Amino acid sequence: MENKSYLVQMNGNGVHGKTTVNGKSLNGSGVNGKGVHANGIHHVSVNGSLYPAKAKSRRQKWEVKPSEMAKNTLNPIRSIVDGMKLTPNPDKPMIALSIGDPTVFGNLPTDNAVLQAMKDAIDSQKFNGYAPSVGYLKSRKAVANFYSCPEAPLEAEDVILASGCSQAIDLAISVLCNPGDNILVPCPGFSLYKTLAVSMGIEVKLYNLLPEKSWEIDLQHMESLIDERTSCMIITNPSNPCGSVFNKEHLQKILKVASKHCVPILADEIYNDMVFQGCSPSLASLSSDVPVLSCGGLAKRWLVPGWRMGWILIHDRNEIFGSQIRQGLVKLTQRILGACSIVQGALDSILNNTPQSFYNHTLSFLKSNSEICFNELSTIPGLNPIMPSGAMYLMVGIHMDHFPDFKNDVDFTERLVTEQSVFCLPATAFEYPNYFRIVVTVPEVMMVEACGRIREFCQRHYRPLSHDSNDLDQ
Ligand SMILES: Cc1ncc(COP(=O)(O)O)c(C=O)c1O
Repeated sequence: MENKSYLVQMNGNGVHGKTTVNGKSLNGSGVNGKGVHANGIHHVSVNGSLYPAKAKSRRQKWEVKPSEMAKNTLNPIRSIVDGMKLTPNPDKPMIALSIGDPTVFGNLPTDNAVLQAMKDAIDSQKFNGYAPSVGYLKSRKAVANFYSCPEAPLEAEDVILASGCSQAIDLAISVLCNPGDNILVPCPGFSLYKTLAVSMGIEVKLYNLLPEKSWEIDLQHMESLIDERTSCMIITNPSNPCGSVFNKEHLQKILKVASKHCVPILADEIYNDMVFQGCSPSLASLSSDVPVLSCGGLAKRWLVPGWRMGWILIHDRNEIFGSQIRQGLVKLTQRILGACSIVQGALDSILNNTPQSFYNHTLSFLKSNSEICFNELSTIPGLNPIMPSGAMYLMVGIHMDHFPDFKNDVDFTERLVTEQSVFCLPATAFEYPNYFRIVVTVPEVMMVEACGRIREFCQRHYRPLSHDSNDLDQ
């Protein structure tokens, strides 16, 4: 009898697995659980052996190649930065305005209450084990309570904890999209969306943000990209890399587009509440019919990106996601346990005991540094900084025609390192050439020094355009 190999799939939640042979169910075939692998997939040959079926022909030589997924996983920031020749001027200490990690300079420590919560969680010895794949109920409840509002109520079961906002985004894309689908992504935008989507065979359609309108979405352009394979639109508010914050009216218009075309929203709201003036409502709080998966985490607002705590808030208007999307998310969390159990143990206390003064201090620092940077750079001929309203970033346009020494933003920022030891991320990394991004979390003295050096650099390389003798272009 020919050896055949069968897949036995176990769903891991206590429900019996289904055994199939060439599509036919073999339930009750007497396959026992012996030799079962942790991944729940087993090769069982028809002669009863639990060893893999014998391959028909053997390989003659070694040939181990990276998978298609590995090959298709590209981080544009890495590929651009790694391709740059970054040799700082030895006479000037390096100032990196490129790193989106607020802890690197030590000037923005997290609050003592956050640290104490973590110490208490460790000392309790209650959080050394495996947590449920979606997170401890108590921790999910804490997040639900923290974000629940009358317009968008949340219960513990609407929260899924993850390893940072990155995993939350990964889960959200994975549950909503199939290979061949497409998603709408902001341009300029956080590069992770594309990195994840492309590796999963999902097409990325970039919709434009408008710098002249404080980076509001070009809604007409966004709408024109939607087709029957559009499985979600990603909205980042407040924005990395722009530092922009959408007002209520704009958010309502975005929801209108989503509603008209029945496209769910993945709201990346990791910078939610990091707004310099007033507040920006969450998308879900304005939605009457659009289902929203809102992704967030501790990284930015609590200044602990290394703790890897993120979450998805499921806002399901009119039960459109229903139990299927919820179950899909639960299944996906079972691939790899996400959030660290100790941070989960500390979460309730972090959310409830961090004093308002801590948030206020962070925001006033970010606002003040943004103003220093904006005011300095807006008087430099050839640059066009755009004042942020939140988050921790500022985008600066380069009038490349005034800088004929450089081919593009990558070349410009590379030479800025060579001559002035200041590193800003070229916005080509966000698919937005002729801009660069500045992170405003650096200490104030460094920000002032960096802006002075950028001025010197620009003054050295700026050339007025020959045709406009009265060059008013700033
Ligand atoms: C817009 C945006 N979303 C998500 C993330 C990822 O957050 P985490 O570090 O929690 O994975 C970042 C990090 O920089 C971000 O800027």
